[in-house]
Amino acid sequence: MSILDLLILERRELSSTHVLLRLTTTDGTLLPTMVPGQFVQVRADGASDVMLRRPISVCHYSAETNELWLLIAAIGPGTRAITAHSEGQTINCVVPLGSGFTMPIHEGERVLLVGGGVGIAPMHFLAHALHAEGHDVTIITGARNTQGLLLARELAAAGQAYYTTEDGSTGTRGFVVDSPAFAKDYDRIYTCGPKPMMMAVARAARERGTWCEVSLENMMACGLGACLCCIEKTVKGNVCVCKDGPVFNIDQLTWQI
Ligand code: FES
Repeated sequence: MSILDLLILERRELSSTHVLLRLTTTDGTLLPTMVPGQFVQVRADGASDVMLRRPISVCHYSAETNELWLLIAAIGPGTRAITAHSEGQTINCVVPLGSGFTMPIHEGERVLLVGGGVGIAPMHFLAHALHAEGHDVTIITGARNTQGLLLARELAAAGQAYYTTEDGSTGTRGFVVDSPAFAKDYDRIYTCGPKPMMMAVARAARERGTWCEVSLENMMACGLGACLCCIEKTVKGNVCVCKDGPVFNIDQLTWQI
């Protein structure tokens, strides 16, 4: 884990509320290695009333280009202050934190990734990692409407991409579990996004007996296991999502699914 001022190479507005920041080190030193599922705590410089860092999932990391991408929903004072930074400025990050997804153990596994909202960020990183290892990747992105579908081109580069929108403006009308791609058989399912979406995916995975991991987005403060504000009940008792997660197998969770 390192605390670094990272340089904003690119600031791209993906929607009225979502910003993608492409970051690197200021002096060319190598970024710490990151794996899909991990997150970064970003200091909200510029927001005088925000003391705590904001947890942001790693959207992409490349050792070759020495880049880290963060997809940020600018929906509060902290995230708005972070995304107000311009290209050429720096943001202060604790990087990386948390556990990663479990990667497949067999060659050419059929894997389904399901994302919604900013939950698509870790799915993007994971999709590219799975694709690079030669797995058969299917990705379903769900949103209220077309404007909420983020990183579509980048996701399509890593596998077969499907979309669902509640208003039917793109892809299948409905929710992620209504996608025709969801009905197929998979060796593994991974998901991140709004809790009702993840619970619906987890329920279906459990009914089919399919292995499934979720990345939880519980409220966080310290990000280090000290404040206990991110507690999740599991079959082994209460755990800190920031330190013991954010990735959990659904068999560990006590969700009523
Ligand atoms: Fe403080 Fe997890 S955010 S213990």
